Amino acid sequence: MDSAHVGDDLVKVLYTEDQIQDRLREMAAQIDADYAGKDLLIVGVLKGAVMVMADLARSLTSHVEMDWMAVSSYGSGTQSSGVVRILKDLDADISDRHVLIVDEIIDTGLTLTWLTSNLASRNPASVEIATLLRKPEAQRMPVDVKYVGFDIPNEFVVGYGLDFKERYRNLRDIGTLAPHVYS
Ligand code: IMP
Ligand code: MG
Repeated sequence: MDSAHVGDDLVKVLYTEDQIQDRLREMAAQIDADYAGKDLLIVGVLKGAVMVMADLARSLTSHVEMDWMAVSSYGSGTQSSGVVRILKDLDADISDRHVLIVDEIIDTGLTLTWLTSNLASRNPASVEIATLLRKPEAQRMPVDVKYVGFDIPNEFVVGYGLDFKERYRNLRDIGTLAPHVYS
């Protein structure tokens, strides 16, 4: 679906499908260069990173293995607590492998801080993070992110994998959700 299909649910479109694809191609070129000659495993964080994984992976010009994790943050309502439970673990053994975690957004940073240290404890050759979006003002944990698509204001955004109550994930663009939708 396009933003035209969601009526006035968006205050504004932050990034169009084309702008997202352009930025992902730049990020992929950097990843190709940084991991040249290395065997890379990219790990998508379900469900939000599905679109980013699909498009970022296809923009790479090198072979890459893809795996998935699903985690849930314990917390009240929309507040992440940093206590994370694994719902689906990796299929792959990552010891001695180069791992790149791919996520769609870093908000407080609590989830990725936990995930990075969890994967780091499995003796990989390296663990890095790529995220399409980051909200610097919301960050509560300093996360060392190697690849960032866009830094955005501290507002709730949907589309391109990002949901509000499981909706809008299939929106092509990324937009700021209008308050009348969540209040
Ligand atoms: P954290 O606060 O960095 O741990 O973010 C955890 C998760 O919250 C992200 O991976 C998203 O799934 C979700 N999230 C954070 N901000 C937004 C947003 O603006 N829209 C939709 N989901 C979000
Ligand atoms: Mg996520």
